[in-house]
Amino acid sequence: MKRFTLVRGLAAALVVLSAAGATIVFDQASAAPTKGNPALGKPLFMKNCIVCHKADGSGGVKLTGNPTPNFRDPKTWADPKRATDDYFRDCITNGKIKSGMVAWGKSGQIKPPDIENLIAYIKTFKPKK
Ligand code: HEC
Repeated sequence: MKRFTLVRGLAAALVVLSAAGATIVFDQASAAPTKGNPALGKPLFMKNCIVCHKADGSGGVKLTGNPTPNFRDPKTWADPKRATDDYFRDCITNGKIKSGMVAWGKSGQIKPPDIENLIAYIKTFKPKK
């Protein structure tokens, strides 16, 4: 009898844990600003992104379609689509296939928490006013 109760308790704890996991994933897909850590995003950016986005984020590399944006230009940030993190999250998750930007998230190459870290790092290029 005692053992049965323990097993039930464990099962309940697991349900609570998986519900918490689902909430975290949901948070990352929402309009919430990124909770990413730029210091963790930096090495990933240096490894995966600088061939096209340049180490200083200035971009301007064109393969097909659109060139990479200049993250150091205030005009880039003036575009309202960049006012929330959703646009960045979508680009890194689903790519911009026509322009050669890889679907890092969808392909499983970069996990959701690291996508948040990359967004946080990209925002460090934003010129301070
Ligand atoms: C093979 C070249 C290439 C690589 C590698 C690459 N990107 Fe891109 N990325 C692009 C291009 C080209 C665009 C512009 C797409 C467009 O606007 O059509 C882009 C756009 C973006 C955007 C949207 C920016 C904006 O403000 O419009 C983000 C965010 C982004 N890339 C993040 C990343 C991250 C993070 C990595 C590394 C994990 C990465 N990219 C690696 C080519 C690349």
